[in-house]
Amino acid sequence: MGLLSLVTGKAGSSGFGSASTAEEVAQGINASNLTAIVTGGASGIGAETVRVLALRGAHVIIGVRNVDAGKAVKDDILRQTKGARVDVLPLDLSSMESVKKFANDFHALNLPLNILINNAGVMFCPFKLSEDGLEMHFATNHVGHFLLTNLLLDNMKKTAKETGVEGRVVNLSSVAHFLTYDEGIQFNRINDESGYSDKKAYGQSKLANILHAKELSRRLKEEGANVTANSVHPGFIMTSLMRHSMNLMRFLNFFSRFLWKSVPQGAATTCYVALHPDLKGVGGKYFDDCNEVNPSLFAQDKDLAMKLWDFSMRLIK
Ligand SMILES: NC(=O)c1ccc[n+]([C@@H]2O[C@H](COP(=O)([O-])OP(=O)(O)OC[C@H]3O[C@@H](n4cnc5c(N)ncnc54)[C@H](OP(=O)(O)O)[C@@H]3O)[C@@H](O)[C@H]2O)c1
Repeated sequence: MGLLSLVTGKAGSSGFGSASTAEEVAQGINASNLTAIVTGGASGIGAETVRVLALRGAHVIIGVRNVDAGKAVKDDILRQTKGARVDVLPLDLSSMESVKKFANDFHALNLPLNILINNAGVMFCPFKLSEDGLEMHFATNHVGHFLLTNLLLDNMKKTAKETGVEGRVVNLSSVAHFLTYDEGIQFNRINDESGYSDKKAYGQSKLANILHAKELSRRLKEEGANVTANSVHPGFIMTSLMRHSMNLMRFLNFFSRFLWKSVPQGAATTCYVALHPDLKGVGGKYFDDCNEVNPSLFAQDKDLAMKLWDFSMRLIK
């Protein structure tokens, strides 16, 4: 999908394009047999993803650090969709302790798990270390989701085996993964403040999201598990993600309005990859505007993906 398709909204080979909305890509899909977790589902793309999954009948658990905001999204959805099943659990992805608690809280509900949408994210933050001593973009966007996925994966594999329904992990990445540090992932300087760039730190974490899905997919295929893992770029959407760069984003939005999407359009690629039957068995791929596209060379590097996996395993242990 090129710039022209983005601007015109012309559909690609999937039948969908940049103008497609989450409701449109999920049209006619019955998700009433599915349970999904959406992280960061209290705002922006995540909230729309939760709404559309629930509209299609899925039971959705929202992982949020602001529980009141999560409950407001839930109430809104229940008002709009009679019988919708939405629950809210506290989750702070920048804290491994909180991620473990979320996974325990979820397991205590005794629910199956078909879909995990690793959506939450922070962008362009000033340098800060998480409570686990990790740079904040890397901690929140990658390590928190890496740990969460690991803790939920057995449930997903078991659910897929028992029901015969394919499980799906979807990582929210970004085209910003093209802008990262020179070595892709700065394994030796992940928490180094001296060379810190808020743009590259965000890009590095979004590169990690793609490499995570890629290596996870390889491992799942090797074991023969009926679970896929993919990553997506949702497009450019004005959301609270821009809180650390509001002026810059308003400026860019003013001059490039035709490149930006609405929130319903921004949630389309996630919902397409999470639900659409055409993607059965497809794993390790990267999607933009509801179509598979090539990510950066770093993101296609199998060795880098394996190295990041081992590095992340050491961090969560
Ligand atoms: N918008 C875009 O143009 C764009 C482009 C490319 C990729 N993306 C990706 O799309 C995803 C969703 O972003 P969005 O645009 O919908 O932004 P958003 O409205 O700010 O949503 C991000 C969500 O993540 C949550 N979050 C942040 N830190 C968290 C933490 N430590 N623990 C748990 N939740 C946390 C936020 O919760 P709080 O409200 O509590 O902060 C918020 O609900 C992100 O991964 C982003 O990188 C967005």
